[in-house]
Amino acid sequence: MKIDDKDGLDSGMPGNLYGRLQVMESEKAPFDPPGRIRAAAAPLLSWYDSHARILPWRERPEPYRVWISEIMLQQTRVEAVKPYFGRFMEALPDIGALAQVEEERLLKLWEGLGYYNRARNLKKAAVTVVENYDGRLPASYEELLKLPGIGSYTAGAIASIAYGIPVPAVDGNVLRVVSRLLASREDILKPSVKRRMEDCLRAVMPQKRAGAFNQGLIEIGAIVCIPGGQPRCDECPLYSLCLARRQGLLDSIPYRAPKKPRKVEERTVLLLEAGDMVAIEKRADKGLLASLYQFPNVEGRLTPQEADRTLKALGAGVKDIVPAGEAKHVFSHVEWHMTGYRILLEHVMEERYLFVNRRELREKYPIPNAFSAYIKVINGES
Ligand code: ADE
Repeated sequence: MKIDDKDGLDSGMPGNLYGRLQVMESEKAPFDPPGRIRAAAAPLLSWYDSHARILPWRERPEPYRVWISEIMLQQTRVEAVKPYFGRFMEALPDIGALAQVEEERLLKLWEGLGYYNRARNLKKAAVTVVENYDGRLPASYEELLKLPGIGSYTAGAIASIAYGIPVPAVDGNVLRVVSRLLASREDILKPSVKRRMEDCLRAVMPQKRAGAFNQGLIEIGAIVCIPGGQPRCDECPLYSLCLARRQGLLDSIPYRAPKKPRKVEERTVLLLEAGDMVAIEKRADKGLLASLYQFPNVEGRLTPQEADRTLKALGAGVKDIVPAGEAKHVFSHVEWHMTGYRILLEHVMEERYLFVNRRELREKYPIPNAFSAYIKVINGES
């Protein structure tokens, strides 16, 4: 690999420190896609060494910690994951503890992260690891892939970050960074496009420092080549190599084929209070938000009079009914548009709902984020 002060086709940005690490690319012999990724490795690793954020799972990249953090990071941003990760590690410090945890406790630790089947799969995989792998996550990409909830991204992340195995870990960040690097206009939502990117990365990624290489790509995607905003190209170690930037295609790459619009469902949420107690119910054990708890709710957007009539038909003694605001929650395929009412009851309706106090609501029962606006209402926070 040639390292040069200049960087061939496109001289490095003044002030871009990584210009010096760029590999020569000549107009006559531009890099092919694998060659471009290969050329990106040195500036990427050098940048990662000095710019990687200090994160709890990076400070001690043990297999269990990498696994849990990666699954959580598929749900939400790094800053939001940190407190979840801390609480999870304290409550379930190792695979043995995870394998034995009660489902409701596990879901409470996951509450607010969404996609609760991911938490259930963590436990299933932990049980398998205890039974079949002596309680240690296998140091093999192929074996990791066999575990429930572990797909190519997570298997690649654990294998490379925790065990140094040279396999790729392609998530949304990496798809964005690499498709821009290569000016690829292919639809990044297609599994075949992701598979080809994985194959290409696997063939050319450095055999040493695989974890840093993968995390470097992820990190550039998180803090430089950011989603949904203007990329911070002047801070990017791949500035000169990036074909989308050179060709003015940053607005159109990564490309995603338009998705069909989500279905909208109107629901009316009933916050039933009797003294200090609040009504909740368990959702069905299949489908959306399976087995989690929720405030009672019905289809449609009811007026206060309709809500009153519905409750009276169920035998409720309604003392008062007050609007509790509108809320919206977006799932992957459906949106809930909710109207809430706070309803003061004369007595609990034990045969129909579970009545719990606010401490139990906070500490014991997993309630999905879809209801967070109404949790605030119940807690007097809005
Ligand atoms: N997003 C996905 N994986 C990550 C990691 N290991 N560090 C920071 N952000 C990430």
